[in-house]
Amino acid sequence: MKENQMIEESIARLGELEQDLKIDGIPSGVEGLDKMFFVFKKTKKGVKKEYLNGIPRYSIFNITGVPDTGKSLLVEQVAITQAGKDIPTIFVTVETPAIFVGSVLKQKAIAMGVDEKKIEENIIFIDAASHHQLREEIPLFLNTLAYAIKKYHVKFTIIDSITGFFEAKEMIARTIVRQLFHFMKKWYQTALFVSQKRSGHEDLSAEAAGGYAIAHILDGSMVFSKKVISSTYDERLYNLPIGEMIRLFRIDGCRLCGHDTETHVLEIEKGLIKIGPSLKELKNKQTK
Ligand SMILES: Nc1ncnc2c1ncn2[C@@H]1O[C@H](COP(=O)(O)OP(=O)(O)OP(=O)(O)O)[C@@H](O)[C@H]1O
Ligand SMILES: [Mg+2]
Repeated sequence: MKENQMIEESIARLGELEQDLKIDGIPSGVEGLDKMFFVFKKTKKGVKKEYLNGIPRYSIFNITGVPDTGKSLLVEQVAITQAGKDIPTIFVTVETPAIFVGSVLKQKAIAMGVDEKKIEENIIFIDAASHHQLREEIPLFLNTLAYAIKKYHVKFTIIDSITGFFEAKEMIARTIVRQLFHFMKKWYQTALFVSQKRSGHEDLSAEAAGGYAIAHILDGSMVFSKKVISSTYDERLYNLPIGEMIRLFRIDGCRLCGHDTETHVLEIEKGLIKIGPSLKELKNKQTK
């Protein structure tokens, strides 16, 4: 692109942009999550808070936390929910070969009451676990994604996990994540990027991938953590005995709309997760 043309194309008044994007909610299939996003609307009676009832459309979220906190469970559940509604969804699997993830998704679909056939038809796997070139050559990976998005008219993309793209090259983690982010925006995707966090980092911070600040690049983070019940205060608050483990969940920023800012208990039942009460609610209940 010539410099003059680039300058010309990069400047526009808001009213001149091609589309005014409408940010509505995409139901996630995760109980408790969809009510955590909202916008403010003008009404005759004044300004009203309106829940999106879903994940904000066109958002690119960082799904982060230490091992075994529920990140994969969340993105799998979201993928099944989209597929169940005939929304073609790309699932990039980076750690586990597609065939294994596929079998987990089918089992989970049964638990969620979603027709297995819909999973077969509407989930498009990109197997970057079995094909190492896809993890190592970002342009090749992006070409593959573009091909799949066009071929299947994809609107939703999940990557579990982006950490696999910068293994042993964490210094360029931000560059890689920025490329992925801009690609998703260009193709008008709503996307969830799982990123792994080392246990050394502060539990409920969004800092992932060895502390290379990738969270700042994306639209927001959903942070997962776990803690062991270790005091009588915890015992009372969570109504669990000492030594038990509890999982926690929090939304850490969202550039596209308002969001719940409290820390919530994350519950797993029959392999399905739901966002439970906030710690504030638990505390209030206790003092009543
Ligand atoms: N059917 C089930 N019933 C109860 N708990 C389950 C069930 N299936 C999975 N879990 C629990 O969910 C936890 C979270 O699993 P998940 O695979 O989502 O972790 P993760 O955050 O993706 O971890 P990693 O970073 O290692 O990939 C597991 O440790 C497991 O204990
Ligand atoms: Mg996982």
